[in-house]
Amino acid sequence: MSSGYKEERYLRINRQLEKLFHDAADPVSRMSTINALLYHKMQDFFWVGFYLLKEGELRVGPYQGPLACLVLAKNKGVCWTSILQERTIIVPDVEKFPGHIACDPRSRSEIAVPVRKNTSEILGVLDIDSRKTGCFDEIDAKCLEEILHWVWV
Ligand code: SME
Repeated sequence: MSSGYKEERYLRINRQLEKLFHDAADPVSRMSTINALLYHKMQDFFWVGFYLLKEGELRVGPYQGPLACLVLAKNKGVCWTSILQERTIIVPDVEKFPGHIACDPRSRSEIAVPVRKNTSEILGVLDIDSRKTGCFDEIDAKCLEEILHWVWV
């Protein structure tokens, strides 16, 4: 997917979310809706979902795609790295990421984006997997960070 096309797709998704969320502020409803749109509109997204921090664990929240790990082994893998470093992590090739947790062996590349409450406290991550290597770049990072502003406002 070309960069311009990808950005345009995200823009359309963002506009649609703005309308849908007009009178629906519940974070679970919003996370589920974000997953549905991203999973069905972004052609190379193989798994889209949230891992949420609860009692010191990262537990799976709403998602779309194949069955995933319910709890992630602590302080390793892409999602925990995103939480611990408080930033978006782009992994072009999961086999080259030490400690990567393979919930599904078909995943080849991945992005994890922190989800914040009121743009500060981190409550979890949005994690997206692709069966293609190098699926995610800085455009995905920027656009997904914008989309996540909708979750906890
Ligand atoms: N690969 C992730 C685990 C979650 S699954 O990809 C759905 C990780 O390394 O944290």
